[in-house]
Parts: sequence; structure tokens; C-alpha cells
Amino acid sequence: QLRGVVALDGPSGTGKSTVSRRLASALGATYLDTGAMYRAATLAVLRAGADPSDEAEVRRIVSAARLVVGTDPGHPEVLLDGVDVGREIRGPQVTAAVSAVSAVAEVRRLLVGQQREVIRRALVSPGGIVVEGRDIGTAVAPEAGLKVYLTASARARAERRTAQDVSEGRAGNLDRTHQDVQRRDALDSGRAVSPLRMADDAVELDTTELDLPAVLEQLHKLVELRG
Ligand code: C5P
Repeated sequence: QLRGVVALDGPSGTGKSTVSRRLASALGATYLDTGAMYRAATLAVLRAGADPSDEAEVRRIVSAARLVVGTDPGHPEVLLDGVDVGREIRGPQVTAAVSAVSAVAEVRRLLVGQQREVIRRALVSPGGIVVEGRDIGTAVAPEAGLKVYLTASARARAERRTAQDVSEGRAGNLDRTHQDVQRRDALDSGRAVSPLRMADDAVELDTTELDLPAVLEQLHKLVELRG
């Protein structure tokens, strides 16, 4: 078991990103947002004008792209070929295409390799690392000392995503977001390679009825016990 590695997995809209960043800051840990890596890879595919379901083309573009994802929880920048794409990767085009790109086995192989390298480097620092994604506890870092699987009802997740869109200046549409959340859940859970599922030894935390401070309190308790 790797003490110092906290794996936070779960579907979108559970508050995972906010919670992971806050937890990493409080622990003095580094932070890795693996979803941002799949999103930046997807942006590269879209910019190249390629079809996200054309596996050979997707593989070629993603292997050639230079993806850099920052590990500072206060300011996790995302660079694609040297340019900050932090805003663009949260937009609707990328969100619509990311499940297809992240289902390509070769894309996962490349990005998981980079993720393991970031984790390996972080382990020499005293604060450890908080890694968020879909397959951290099952595939990227199955040896993580603490694995948490965040869940919430689909409606609650759609409400949070919509509030986040509005607060970040994008148009919010609850019904469309609800449909999108359900569509991505089905694609992420149904794919052949590293589907979204809870690791057998993960702790499940349902955040439907919990606010952010309550979720963080639970996580700090778990870190004290096992992290
Ligand atoms: O977490 P976020 O919503 O930014 O992730 C975007 C997408 O990236 C997910 O819907 C999923 O398709 C993919 N992803 C993944 N494996 C991860 C993290 C994200 O397949 N570890």
C-alpha cells in the first residue's frame, strides 16, 4: 500500500474536483486532475478536425500532442502544446466528445503512463498526492493507501454542474445537463477498458445530502485513519 496517495474516483458532478483540490491544499499535497488530461487530449482531437470515434486517428493525434497538467491544487493549469487551455477544455464541445476519446485503449495507455509518472514523482514530497478521476483506485494507482468513491444522485449532480456552469460564465441548462450526466455515466461505466466502477477496497461517500464542509470533514477523518 502506498501511503500518501489518495485516490478520489466517481462520476461527474459529485463535487469531486472541488473536494480534491481543497483536500490537497489542506494536506499540503500535490494534486492531479486526470479528467483534465482526457479533456485536453480531446481538445487536440477536435482541433485537428478528426472524428473522435476514429481510433487510429485519435491515437496518432494524442501521441503527438504535448499535454502538461499542473499539480498545484491552488492553480492547476492545463497546457496543450504550450498554451493554457484550462477554460476551453470545460466547454460543451469537449464535454460531448471526451467519453469517446477516453474509451480508446491507446489513449488510456499513454495517459495512465503519464499519470503514474506524476504520482511517482509526488511520492518523494512529504505531503503526498490527491489524484482524482474514474479509474485511479482500480487501474492507475490500485495500491493507493486511501481510495474514496464519491457518488450522488444524477439529479443532484446535474444541479451542481449547472450551478458551476453559471458561476463560470457559461449558459446553464438543468435538463440538458441532467441528460448529459446520464449519457456520460453510461458511456464511462460501459466502456471495455477501465470502466468507471468502485474499487473493492474503496470507501463509498454519497454526497447527495452533504455540503462541501461536511464532505471534507469525512475525508479528513478517512485520511487520518488510512491515508
Ligand atoms: O472529471 P471530468 O468530468 O473532467 O472527466 C471528463 C471525462 O474524462 C470523463 O467523462 C471520462 O470520460 C474521462 N475520464 C476517464 N478517466 C479518468 C478521468 C476522466 O475516462 N481517470
